[in-house]
Amino acid sequence: MTRKNVYLDNAATTPMDPKVIEKISSEMTNDFGNASSQHAFGRKARQVVEAARHQLAETINAEDKEIIFTSGGSESNNTAIFGTARARKNIGKKIITTRIEHPSVLNPMKRLAQEGYEIVYLDVDESGHISLEDLKRELTPDTILVSIMAVNNEVGSIMPLKEIGELVKDSNAYFHVDDVQGFGNIEIDVKDMNIDLLSTSAHKVNGPKFLGFLYEKNGLKISNLLLGGEQ
Ligand SMILES: Cc1ncc(COP(=O)(O)O)c(C=O)c1O
Repeated sequence: MTRKNVYLDNAATTPMDPKVIEKISSEMTNDFGNASSQHAFGRKARQVVEAARHQLAETINAEDKEIIFTSGGSESNNTAIFGTARARKNIGKKIITTRIEHPSVLNPMKRLAQEGYEIVYLDVDESGHISLEDLKRELTPDTILVSIMAVNNEVGSIMPLKEIGELVKDSNAYFHVDDVQGFGNIEIDVKDMNIDLLSTSAHKVNGPKFLGFLYEKNGLKISNLLLGGEQ
């Protein structure tokens, strides 16, 4: 009798969809130009990148220019958190998050605490949800960032993003959502939910393990972690 292994760990990562592999291989073969180059190869590559950006923006009701490609969820989370902390330290040094965030959120928080930021970790109840009352109480004028995940990677709790967004909208803080587990599984409307920053990762939704995007609301002021060209 032959034994067949069944893969049941899709929250950790998903197999790549053959259509994605085919599309990526074909683009890497045919459209290898530098998307910032002015010649035909560059312009073709730029078209492909912009079409992808538009498609992704539509999924969360964002503008195309608000989508920044990254290497995945960890880079998106680090960029959102450190970028906000560095850019807004003169406004305040308080950041609110939860006890059940992914390490790519919790470790940046730990580092910022060492640098003198005040990090408040909201507790969750037995079903993995925060209390909106706790959040409301902690949202003082010196709070510069609220970072709360959309869906927890261990227990699957879905956070009340719309209600959180309503509270954060009336404060001085930016609202960052780690949507790595939610993207493709729950509906997100960044405008309706008043989300300022949102992280995603392709390998959770049948894409490659080197890609993601950070949604950054138009007009937001966050510091770049990587300094380089305009691309
Ligand atoms: C909730 C959550 N955030 C962030 C990440 C990190 O994403 P990536 O593996 O793309 O760096 C993961 C990955 O497991 C995750 O589950």
